[in-house]
Amino acid sequence: MKFDVVIIGAGAAGLHCAAVAGAQGKKVLLIDHAKRPGKKILISGGGRSNFTNYYIEPEKYICENRHFCKSALSQYTQWDFIALVEKHKIPYHEKTLGQLFCDNSAKELVAMLVKECEKAGVVFSFQTEVINTEKTSTTGYSVITNKDKYTCKSLIIASGGLSMPKLGATPFAYKVAEQFGLEVLPTRAGLVPFTLQPELKTPLAEISGVSIPVSVSTPRTSFNEDMLITHRGLSGPAVLQASSYWLPGEDITVDLYPTGNFDEVLEQAIAAQPMLQLKNFLSTLFAKRFVETFLQLLQIESMMLKQLNHKQKANLSTSIHAWKIKPSGTEGYRTAEVTLGGVNTDHLSSKTMEVKDHPGLFFIGEAVDVTGWLGGYNFQWAWSSGYVAGMNC
Ligand code: FDA
Repeated sequence: MKFDVVIIGAGAAGLHCAAVAGAQGKKVLLIDHAKRPGKKILISGGGRSNFTNYYIEPEKYICENRHFCKSALSQYTQWDFIALVEKHKIPYHEKTLGQLFCDNSAKELVAMLVKECEKAGVVFSFQTEVINTEKTSTTGYSVITNKDKYTCKSLIIASGGLSMPKLGATPFAYKVAEQFGLEVLPTRAGLVPFTLQPELKTPLAEISGVSIPVSVSTPRTSFNEDMLITHRGLSGPAVLQASSYWLPGEDITVDLYPTGNFDEVLEQAIAAQPMLQLKNFLSTLFAKRFVETFLQLLQIESMMLKQLNHKQKANLSTSIHAWKIKPSGTEGYRTAEVTLGGVNTDHLSSKTMEVKDHPGLFFIGEAVDVTGWLGGYNFQWAWSSGYVAGMNC
């Protein structure tokens, strides 16, 4: 069977790309090995999908070439996607930091994308395994699946990265890239919780569920958001963000009191209430459960504030403003929201996502070495990169 465009992967990028290409009058086939499209959209944002962000900017993306994402993000912006959501009368709201979520359910977003595809005459082929893809001398590309053989002028790879294999993630895109001689930059899990060594994991597990507004720093950057203590280690937005910038073996530094100066508040408290117990003072700043565990970890007995000596004060201050933690690792692709690395953007046109040396072949979405921050940035990359490929295939 002959199509103008065959897209492999009916996730965020593939669905949007298919709708855009179909709307250009192209005969489009959208293939996925899953039963249904958009599985990650459905579970994202706790079922409400953080589908974009008011403050999309290239600086919030990680890529070997930091300029690469600019073109696609400016050709199809967050405002364009918001307009599509509004056209479909899907109610949404800003949660925090410009993050936009559906009021009701992410199902509405998937239904919207499927509707756009149907309107554009896109043919779906689910539960379809791709056996082989090849460049042909005449038509462009051929795709052999367990169901049929297809030829097309443009072949678009939108099969995502490695995160969450149980949702159907595979290294398919990287294999196709390698088949066509493109470099795949080393991949690793991003936006992922940290795991800890037993000496920290065990006491912290006792207080899992405690969330603290912190600043988490890696040697490259820092994020001011909440940190969540879990029974496996550390999570929450600040930690997930930092994980994308962290390299194995490095320390992270946690400032537990980023909005104030601990030395000052401690001195004020000593002056005002010298007989106050240290743990009661700390409980005015942090959850009580956390304070008890934290003092045990520092091996500081609770005492009256006036009894604290210089060394103890300095130790407390350093531990509160610069708590050094060496994660033992991350939870890996099993729980990671994204995959860092991927198809090297040097091979791609930033304007169209087309492979420079193979006209008609495109890579879009998470398969490519472009990874956004937490907060709707990754879906926006999927919409934008899908759009430019859809317009140019
Ligand atoms: P995506 O993974 O969406 O789609 C790839 C498709 O290809 C899938 O349908 C898969 O079945 C198919 N496929 C894979 N291998 C195949 C093969 N061999 N043959 C055929 N088909 C194949 N981002 C964000 O901006 N806001 C958010 O709220 C969240 N939340 C979130 C929660 C969780 C739990 C996860 C795991 C991820 C997020 N993300 C997110 C990230 C976001 O989901 C991700 O960046 C996009 O889905 C990437 O879109 P793609 O279309 O590139 O891949």
